[in-house]
Amino acid sequence: MVLCSQSFLLLLAVVLVAFNISSLVAAWDNGNKIKSATFLSPMFVLGPGSVENRYYYNVDFPRGHIALKSFNAEVIDDAGNPVPLDETYLHHWVVARYYQRGNAVITEANHKQKFRGSDFMLAKNAGLCQGGVNRHYFGLGSETRKTATHVPDPYGIEIGNPAEIPAGYQERWLLNIHAIDTRGVEDKLGCTECKCDLYNITVDEYGRAVRPDYEGGLLCCYDKTQCKLRQGFQGVRRSLYLRYTVKWMDWDSSIIPVQIYILDVTDNGKRIDGSTGIGRENGCQVEYNIQSCDATGRELDIKRTSLTFPSTGYVIYGVAHQHSGGLGSTLTSQNDVISNATETTLSVMLPLGFFELLSGNCVVLMIDVSHNPCSSAIVVNDGRVLCTSLPIYGQGKEAGNEAGYIVGMSTCYPETGSVKIDAGEKLLLESNYSNHQKHTGVMGLFYLMVAEQTPKHVPLLLDPVHIQENLKLSPYTWLVAAVSAVAITIAVAALLWLRKGREDAYEPIMG
Ligand SMILES: *[C@@H]1O[C@H](CO)[C@@H](O)[C@H](O)[C@H]1NC(C)=O
Ligand SMILES: *[C@@H]1O[C@H](CO)[C@@H](O)[C@H](O)[C@H]1NC(C)=O
Ligand SMILES: *[C@@H]1O[C@H](CO)[C@@H](O)[C@H](O)[C@H]1NC(C)=O
Repeated sequence: MVLCSQSFLLLLAVVLVAFNISSLVAAWDNGNKIKSATFLSPMFVLGPGSVENRYYYNVDFPRGHIALKSFNAEVIDDAGNPVPLDETYLHHWVVARYYQRGNAVITEANHKQKFRGSDFMLAKNAGLCQGGVNRHYFGLGSETRKTATHVPDPYGIEIGNPAEIPAGYQERWLLNIHAIDTRGVEDKLGCTECKCDLYNITVDEYGRAVRPDYEGGLLCCYDKTQCKLRQGFQGVRRSLYLRYTVKWMDWDSSIIPVQIYILDVTDNGKRIDGSTGIGRENGCQVEYNIQSCDATGRELDIKRTSLTFPSTGYVIYGVAHQHSGGLGSTLTSQNDVISNATETTLSVMLPLGFFELLSGNCVVLMIDVSHNPCSSAIVVNDGRVLCTSLPIYGQGKEAGNEAGYIVGMSTCYPETGSVKIDAGEKLLLESNYSNHQKHTGVMGLFYLMVAEQTPKHVPLLLDPVHIQENLKLSPYTWLVAAVSAVAITIAVAALLWLRKGREDAYEPIMG
């Protein structure tokens, strides 16, 4: 990695400051048990309209037998400044666990070069999609900055358990970052939704022709593609990083492990044996399109799927992932609805699924019956709500509050033991979008963390008195605080100075 020494020192300062701040926060959290570290991804370089979709192997991550407590991330420039979404749109980042045999030679790749074979084994989350689809540990997109990810006490995501790591293998982490630079582009939303005509794409990353009715999505904005710029726009290429903060605790028997499930509203339930990818006929499609249904005068597109949950447990955390235009998503239990209603859902949904595949047309399921191709009859959802997650749209210009973008998703932290799912239970996942305009390549994922057990008794840590005590800072912490304050002052001064010198080199933010 080549960096000018100035930026490097500054980065170092920023990272150190970030680290100290996190350590401080950690000191308040959990009787000093929560540790925190902030890392930088490998550098990626984006010019106006360009796309990076890279896989970084063996990235920095806490090691050992530990319980993960949170993962937060954001894109920064090489001076450590957060980069707003209307300049660099973070389509998604994904953190996955894998086992590596021997010494890997590949450290970085794009989707096409992704290495497979017996030296590499994805350590998957608990489900539900086919093969390696949606089997990562953490992953968000534009909503990263304002979405809570913490796992509450006494729960944790168990990793690094030597008993689980296959003999001869090492546990490692891979990071996939898909970012789109939309400075100076003709159509910002179109570029972020990967509309094929804006990328002038007719052949996908693997050299296969993109089918003519595929208007947009991941096949058209792969690594090193270029979105259409406004005539004559000139802008500099710039170096970027994903800065991520991981919190964790050393594993101990008082921690209750949680399993991660990722549900996908495009999941039609089909599993083709031996298939690992996203075939048109295969389970989770990950993406779908929203047709503009102006003719109906409706502003709402509802997509639903019915899924069978494989094991029994208690929901600890829930959050949806949607793209711009998203209006929220709900996960409902259908077991409480009379059993015949469930049968109806399935029999209605399967033909619709076929319809969707054959016509590639409207993928929209609406409640009311009408003759409009965008509307269809579907069961009324009156089950028990497990979690509703709503988007937070930005209202300004600054990073974390960009107007028109989803900058956060609300999360569910049900009271301990209050939301139980039984093995074999039918769940209904519903993803609402505005169909005021057409959207391509949107997503309707739902992340769940589920614990098989609940704590036997309420742990002392949840007791307010103890929280108070934990808030009292030790003399050492005060020292760290004082040092941090000095470090922050120096870093801010340095940032301001560096920024001043750089201003001319940077393109202004384009609306
Ligand atoms: C689009 O791609 C084709 C080849 O696939 C190329 O001939 C054409 O010049 C491209 N158009 C633009 C505007 O870049
Ligand atoms: C989705 O739309 C339906 C129909 O209006 C509504 O009942 C449901 O509450 C909506 N879900 C969310 C999460 O807003
Ligand atoms: C479901 O439908 C069948 C046949 O129509 C009927 O015999 C049965 O009683 C129904 N079950 C419930 C729970 O309504």
